[in-house]
Amino acid sequence: MLKVEPMDQAIGARIYGVDVSRPMSDETFTQVLAALGKHGYICFPGQTLQAGELRAFAGRFGTLEINVAGSFQEPGIPEVMILSNIVEDGKPIGIADAGQDWHTDMSYSAMISFVNVLYGIRIPVRDGHPLGGTSFADMYGAYDDLPQDIKDRLETLTATHDFNKFWEMMRREKGSTRPPLTPEQRAKKPPVVHPLVLIHPITGRKVLYANPGYTERINELEKAESDALLAFLFKHQLQPKYQATHRWTPGDVLVWDNICTIHNAVADYRPDEPRLIKRCQAMADVILHSDSAKTTGAEKRFFEHQ
Ligand code: SIN
Repeated sequence: MLKVEPMDQAIGARIYGVDVSRPMSDETFTQVLAALGKHGYICFPGQTLQAGELRAFAGRFGTLEINVAGSFQEPGIPEVMILSNIVEDGKPIGIADAGQDWHTDMSYSAMISFVNVLYGIRIPVRDGHPLGGTSFADMYGAYDDLPQDIKDRLETLTATHDFNKFWEMMRREKGSTRPPLTPEQRAKKPPVVHPLVLIHPITGRKVLYANPGYTERINELEKAESDALLAFLFKHQLQPKYQATHRWTPGDVLVWDNICTIHNAVADYRPDEPRLIKRCQAMADVILHSDSAKTTGAEKRFFEHQ
């Protein structure tokens, strides 16, 4: 029997009674989706997964992305990316700085992301405390609390999101080994446009769809006005009251919803404190065409600006 236990913080829940490595019935999966839409992220503790099983589970949520950078993929399973600061025989085994600032995965894609699915294998611990947590901010709450005049303004506005914005931000960090994106990589991920307010395809609630990592410009406004409104939104959405942090335990499978949350991989551990996590990213293609997305208006809202 599946049991959903909300965490004692702004968002997040733990789910017990599910073996993620095994095929899941449609009924169970529907309950998982409902919990995800409601709580923003869910954790299945105590799992043991092979990379192929991680891919199979993540693939239930939507078509899986193969990352444009094309490196640090599980051999033979390019949908699974390796996030790690471990160096073996002088070579990094994974991407060491993935997601280390506030962002929304794949907001830079014409088809946005629905979920990330991460499997924690090695988690740094210092003085008995786990490090390298993943922080989230709740974009339902951020939208709900906006002043009405801002909500009215945002209703018809769209924003440009660019993969290169976050990439360059990470390159400016001390010790970054990221090369600039090649013209071919840039051509694969050109800037895209999305509404600033989306309707969540499961819950029908409105969310603020903007993030400091990739959102570059509000298209309908002059640059100075766009910069000012984005600065306001970025500050607003990161107020502590919307935030929660997942403290990892090895064996956790964490699924988060990229439509109603933004996130940040907390870089509070040293290079000699090993962290190893495997990740899949599933697009919102399936969920945005689902019956609930039609009923709630999420499908129409997303595609009318494409
Ligand atoms: C990510 O943004 O996908 C990485 C998150 C993490 O490693 O905690």
